[in-house]
Amino acid sequence: MTENKLFFPVKEVTYEELFDWAVPGQRYKTSSVAVPQKNGLFRQNSHTGSLVECNKMKIALFRHGEQVFAVNEKCPHAGGPLHLGDIEDISDGGGLCVRCPWHSWRFDLNTGKVTMPRGRNVSTVVYPVKVDSRGVISIGFDKFADSYFSVEEDF
Ligand code: FES
Repeated sequence: MTENKLFFPVKEVTYEELFDWAVPGQRYKTSSVAVPQKNGLFRQNSHTGSLVECNKMKIALFRHGEQVFAVNEKCPHAGGPLHLGDIEDISDGGGLCVRCPWHSWRFDLNTGKVTMPRGRNVSTVVYPVKVDSRGVISIGFDKFADSYFSVEEDF
């Protein structure tokens, strides 16, 4: 549903620049993204989504073919970085999911609901996305972020 949404343009990346998970060869390209590990070391991620800031919120963007998905960047389980997650097509009805890099929970990219582990009543937030003819991506929100209206006072 895109009616009654406020759409904010994404400045960091265009549709053409998004990593396309539907292109098999791209899945194994090495990117320069370093993923923090629990032992304090980093490993190179071989494929990734994009982290953007829109409406003063951090959003993970993923492209799969002609579809673009926008989800809250922080995993609702323990705050993992969902933009560094893998995209999986769960053929047993799960559809396209993002797998969190920290504990491998999967979230449906259309509904935000957790699909693995089963039986958890947890969701991430998914946002509607529009792409214009120039490839500019816009993300839809219910309202302006609260931080637009917070007053920072210097005393
Ligand atoms: S923080 Fe994402 S699955 Fe645990």
